[in-house]
Amino acid sequence: MHLTREEIEATNRIQRLNIINSITGIKAGNLIGTMSENHGSNLAIFSSVIHLGSNPALLGFILRPEGEVPRNTFENIIKTERYTINHIRSSFIENAHYTSAKFDRHVSEFEACDLTEEYLHDFPAPYVKESTVKMGMRFLESIPIKANNTKMVIGQIEHLYFPEETMSEEGYVDLAATDSVGIGGLNSYYSLNKLNTFPFARKTELPEFKQ
Ligand SMILES: Cc1cc2nc3c(=O)[nH]c(=O)nc-3n(C[C@H](O)[C@H](O)[C@H](O)COP(=O)(O)O)c2cc1C
Repeated sequence: MHLTREEIEATNRIQRLNIINSITGIKAGNLIGTMSENHGSNLAIFSSVIHLGSNPALLGFILRPEGEVPRNTFENIIKTERYTINHIRSSFIENAHYTSAKFDRHVSEFEACDLTEEYLHDFPAPYVKESTVKMGMRFLESIPIKANNTKMVIGQIEHLYFPEETMSEEGYVDLAATDSVGIGGLNSYYSLNKLNTFPFARKTELPEFKQ
């Protein structure tokens, strides 16, 4: 199949949204936990969390335009400057998916979607107890993306939790062993299966590729 820009633009809205949301490949599956000053805890699924740098340890995620829908996660992050990022595991993909429903701001998605709030080391934002990989984040800045009115929200890792036995000697965390999941499009969840690991790529040590 080949689609030109004109054909993409002429595709019906839902199909276009699903095609374009799928073609980047597998995205990280995370739940972002926040605390509102007056309305309790909040939890929402995000598939756009990315690595920005390791020193300082920075992560970003993309926030869709605010429009008429209030963005509870962003409001809470701006007010409290703290949030958590929690890997979704295969055992609770359905619960995680339904955190994207438009709940009233006073409803906690933890309760509505049957996930458990957890508070660790006096951090003021809720973690997801069922997640094995979780991070306590401090908000640093949000960058408006003019091209489509989205924002990149940038934060620094203040606390990092993961099962020690899933880390290699070099420090790589095995995401199959943590049971973290990947997301395709906006509604498909994939389990992860590590295929192989390679050394740092040096052009002087090229394997014999089959041509
Ligand atoms: C699989 C999946 C991935 C999503 N990823 C994002 C994302 O990266 N950015 C975003 O702004 N919304 C994303 N959403 C939508 C939010 O989860 C949804 O708008 C949620 O209601 C936001 O909650 P809040 O109003 O409490 O912040 C995603 C939804 C699904 C189902």
